[in-house]
Amino acid sequence: MARRKKIYEGKAKILYEGPEPGTFVQYFKDDATAFNAEKKDVIEGKGVLNNRLSEFFMNGLTAVGIPNHFIRRINMREQLIRQVEIIPLEVIVRNYAAGSLSKRLGIEEGTALPRPIIEFCYKDDALGDPLVAEEHIIAFGWAAQQDLDDMVALALRVNDFLSGVMFGVGIRLVDFKIEIGRVWDNDFQRLIVADEISPDSCRLWDMETGQKLDKDVFRRDLGNLADAYTEVARRLGVLPSNVTHAVKPTLIN
Ligand SMILES: Nc1ncnc2c1ncn2[C@@H]1O[C@H](COP(=O)(O)OP(=O)(O)OP(=O)(O)O)[C@@H](O)[C@H]1O
Ligand SMILES: [Mg+2]
Repeated sequence: MARRKKIYEGKAKILYEGPEPGTFVQYFKDDATAFNAEKKDVIEGKGVLNNRLSEFFMNGLTAVGIPNHFIRRINMREQLIRQVEIIPLEVIVRNYAAGSLSKRLGIEEGTALPRPIIEFCYKDDALGDPLVAEEHIIAFGWAAQQDLDDMVALALRVNDFLSGVMFGVGIRLVDFKIEIGRVWDNDFQRLIVADEISPDSCRLWDMETGQKLDKDVFRRDLGNLADAYTEVARRLGVLPSNVTHAVKPTLIN
């Protein structure tokens, strides 16, 4: 088989050229990074879980009419996606205070916010993905005002959907981050949800115990990350039948 052309290798995923023009294959790695890649590890099975979970969430978005890049899953670690032109912003939606917002503003983690708060970070690893204002986004041409309005609307729809899905399985959606990209249908430009939606990009707390079921488990050394993601997948009924993590050959005496 001819080797596929690698388009981009990031910290958590690899993009390959897809089978048709305008498509990519997105491969989910087991690598975990935090604090702008200062902390790194390989978490066996994470890629498999995130591939499945992102498929589940993106299919859910499609079902309720929220446009996104997901086409179909190819195998345990790969999915076919529509190629987009990524807007160089991370769009963060927060329902409860946590992480950098708590730190920056001195608001205790877990405090319910009066309304969902949307933040934008400029995607630039060298700068540490800094928080930016709409003024910067417009002035530097990263997105137009109309794009920003569309991005906010899209992010809030994703928030409503994801909050409801997670509530249904006893999990609080504290916050999450999405990436959004442009696609063209003839001359008409649209914005769609791209990248991934997974416990790597969300904060998920068990509603009863407050247990963290997301990447903070890794960031803060709170236990086994794959176990946390497996629990999310299990509750959502999307656990792959043959999860690879921790299923190493065992010696039976
Ligand atoms: N549908 C898509 N079309 C084009 N690019 C995409 C699409 N979905 C995601 N991407 C991009 O693919 C890359 C996925 O790799 P990964 O998430 O590992 O990157 P990363 O290490 O987080 O770095 P960065 O996001 O800063 O490039 C990201 O750059 C993301 O913006
Ligand atoms: Mg990424």
